[in-house]
Amino acid sequence: MILLDGRKVASERNLQLKDKIAQAVAVHGREPGLAIIMIGDNPASLSYVKGKGKASALVGIKHELHQLPDTVTEDEVIALIEKLNQDPTVDGMILQLPIPDHLDDAKLIDLIAREKDADGFHVVNQGYLYQKKPTTKPATPKGIMTLLSAYDINPKGMNAVIVGRSNIVGFPIARLLMDAGATITICHRQTKDMAYHTKQADLLVVSAGRARLVGADMVKPGAIVVDVGVNRVDDKLVGDVDFEAVKEVASHLTPVPKGVGPMTINALLENTYELYMEHLVANKV
Ligand code: GUN
Repeated sequence: MILLDGRKVASERNLQLKDKIAQAVAVHGREPGLAIIMIGDNPASLSYVKGKGKASALVGIKHELHQLPDTVTEDEVIALIEKLNQDPTVDGMILQLPIPDHLDDAKLIDLIAREKDADGFHVVNQGYLYQKKPTTKPATPKGIMTLLSAYDINPKGMNAVIVGRSNIVGFPIARLLMDAGATITICHRQTKDMAYHTKQADLLVVSAGRARLVGADMVKPGAIVVDVGVNRVDDKLVGDVDFEAVKEVASHLTPVPKGVGPMTINALLENTYELYMEHLVANKV
């Protein structure tokens, strides 16, 4: 089994990005800026945003964390998003999900300027994605595609099965894999016999949010398996795939942690850099 080492690929790409940013800053005299909005104090989200901040600092992206209490009103969040939309030093902005139930995540995300949507979650950017037009791609699906290509895995002609249908992973990775020539099946909570589908997969992407949902009996021998899940079980992080069992049947497998997670962060940083370059061109700085 070949380990799809997201940490290694991401850190190589982050170093390349650091050079590109340093060159751009030398010419244009301004660093890229990323604003991260986090609401509440969900420990998992806090650890993700810290990871994003640390990685930003490493590559030379100036980041600012706006941590709001879970009692914040919608108007207060909107005021912050609008302020950041106007701030010329902010090239990318993300709203860390999930947010508390009294707030409407889709509404707030769509208020982020499309040109600053570093997560690629804005309805217009998702529309471009689904119409196969150039746009900012959601970070996790983009990171998965980068990881596959780093291991010379070409999805063309493969049966790709995706477990999970979220707007941030399952649905957009289906789009990207279909564009790359794979035949797509999306499984979800209402799927009758999930193992029937997953056993057809040459490439299996699991993003269900359920610890060790996928065991060896659900995987075709020789399949490539990408595990997007991060679940805390007995104080340990585990994926949606039973790593120890599936490593005996898969040809390629991502670990959790250090698989998809670092690739998501790398994709977010690359998105921020791309938005920064667009802003420099637009402003002719
Ligand atoms: N929550 C889980 N994944 C993500 C992500 O990629 N971006 C944001 N903003 N929130 C998330």
